[in-house]
Amino acid sequence: MSTVVETDVLIVGSGPAGASAALALSTYGVPNLVVTRYAGLADTPRAHITNQRTMEVLRDLGVEQEVVAQATPQHLMGNTTFCTSLAGEELGRVRSWGNDPLVQAEHELASPTRMCDMPQHLMEPVLVDAAIARGTRLRFETEYLSHTQDADGVTATVRDRLRGDTYEIRAKYLIGADGGRSKVAADAGLPMGGQMGVAGSVNIVFEADLTRYTAHRPSTLYWVLAPGATVGGIGAGLVRCVRPWNEWLIVWGYDVTAGAPDLTTAYAESVVRKLVGDDDIPVTIKSSSAWTVNEMYAERYASGRVFCAGDAVHRHPPSNGLGSNTSIQDAYNLAWKLKLVLDGTAHPRLLDSYTAERAPIGRQIVTRANQSIRETAPVFEALDGLSPQTPEQLWANIAARKDATEAAEKQRAQLREAIAFKVYEFNAHGVDLNQRYPAESSAAIVPDGTPDPGFARDPELHHQPSSRPGARLPHAWITSGSRTLSTLDTVGRGRFTLLTGIGGEDWVRAAEAQDIEIATVVIGPGQEYEDPYGDWARLREITDSGALLVRPDGFVAFRHASAAPDAGELLADTLRRILGHA
Ligand code: FDA
Repeated sequence: MSTVVETDVLIVGSGPAGASAALALSTYGVPNLVVTRYAGLADTPRAHITNQRTMEVLRDLGVEQEVVAQATPQHLMGNTTFCTSLAGEELGRVRSWGNDPLVQAEHELASPTRMCDMPQHLMEPVLVDAAIARGTRLRFETEYLSHTQDADGVTATVRDRLRGDTYEIRAKYLIGADGGRSKVAADAGLPMGGQMGVAGSVNIVFEADLTRYTAHRPSTLYWVLAPGATVGGIGAGLVRCVRPWNEWLIVWGYDVTAGAPDLTTAYAESVVRKLVGDDDIPVTIKSSSAWTVNEMYAERYASGRVFCAGDAVHRHPPSNGLGSNTSIQDAYNLAWKLKLVLDGTAHPRLLDSYTAERAPIGRQIVTRANQSIRETAPVFEALDGLSPQTPEQLWANIAARKDATEAAEKQRAQLREAIAFKVYEFNAHGVDLNQRYPAESSAAIVPDGTPDPGFARDPELHHQPSSRPGARLPHAWITSGSRTLSTLDTVGRGRFTLLTGIGGEDWVRAAEAQDIEIATVVIGPGQEYEDPYGDWARLREITDSGALLVRPDGFVAFRHASAAPDAGELLADTLRRILGHA
């Protein structure tokens, strides 16, 4: 065995975390190599909900349009339905994923992008193709076995699964994006909190034309309250649309203490028939697989030169659709930091901010996703359906809601309320967008000394833009000549950006005088960018002559309310701190 391959960043895994890390690094010009265990990319739909923050990342990385072209659009995602089967009785709906008119307005105000449904087997090729086109080298059928690290780099041992031999790859940094059973995270000794195997689930991918049951209430998710639906799983039986309206994925639970069922075609068909409720419709089973609901998160995402991202460090059920989104956002947070450390601009200390910023988010989304499962129970409770003795009893309890009695009226109200409460899973715009990186924990954020006003509305449901250091730059539509663009379009592309307005000349001069490239954006009448709607002025929380320094990942690193005669010094100090030189 000898060292045959060298690279700057070795990435283990080609899922959403690994593929987007490769794409971002190649976009920034950092040599990287991906090794992945299997012969191809994801062959089943898996994660699919793609939120606005992720779409903004993909926009910056130049693949937003490819995703939009292939994804199911937002307006077909929005009638999350609860029913006894697709052909059976409907119990209620939630307007979801930004399709409630009021929430839709919040989506439009929050971002230049739209949420969409992009199944993982379609997303991964978009990310990987673009990464390879920009320089990523990818080795399929290559399994990570172990690693050692020293002061200068990491040596990983991998097995070529085609030839059967092992060899070493030498890299300056290693990213473990090897999913929920991450060997990299285990080998790096990353401490994990929580529990694996909380409940058992089966995924069944199938083809069937279900137009007659779904097209009139277009949705990504149809939840089925049928006998057995409270055993294991993710709160109820789920029929998930993969492609409208003929490709589907069912999630059905099993008792984890009894072990996974035998996944025969006959078993899969029986589950499909139960949840669809139509024995005549032609069904083709494509695949079945068993998995467990996990509630785990790493306290630390890195050890020396080894960094983990995605399910390797946060493992949770698909509720709220956070899996692939959080994985992509982890990678985006890490990639620019690696780039600046590798090219000598930043001290390796900058990389400490990766755990400081992302680990609290991982913990939050693991908790949220598991809580969402528990919040489905009240829907069953409203129907006395949590532990009926027999299927007949469950159907009788469900039918009782139609009676003209006081008890039934109470039951109807309780059911409406329980279903409406599911907005915390299906319309949680704040969970998607309100992520902040507090300056108290991250040295890559410089506090501006103003008190944090907190969130005025429920932070899980409503997005609240802010230009506070640690928040993501607010989106506002601005113009440049005849072009309309988002403020977010002025930042990113791997570099820092300074935003100011009329009277901010000192800031612009200061930015231009720094050793590091800082793009400058001046917004105001007669400037390169104008704010014709006044949206930016309402959102920016600084005066015309103030400044925001925005990191390559679009998060505000530094804010100053007005002009500063010592702008050059302030900016230099700020950069020293952010880049780990202070
Ligand atoms: P991911 O698991 O996607 O990728 C890991 C990568 O590492 C893979 O390319 C794998 O081959 C590779 N790898 C692993 N070990 C390796 C080794 N030793 N050497 C080399 N390569 C190695 N989420 C959701 O929101 N809705 C859903 O319905 C589902 N359904 C679903 C079904 C199944 C079967 C799975 C496995 C997962 C889901 N998920 C899901 C979860 C979702 O897929 C998950 O959150 C993201 O894929 C996480 O992305 P990562 O890139 O972190 O890991």
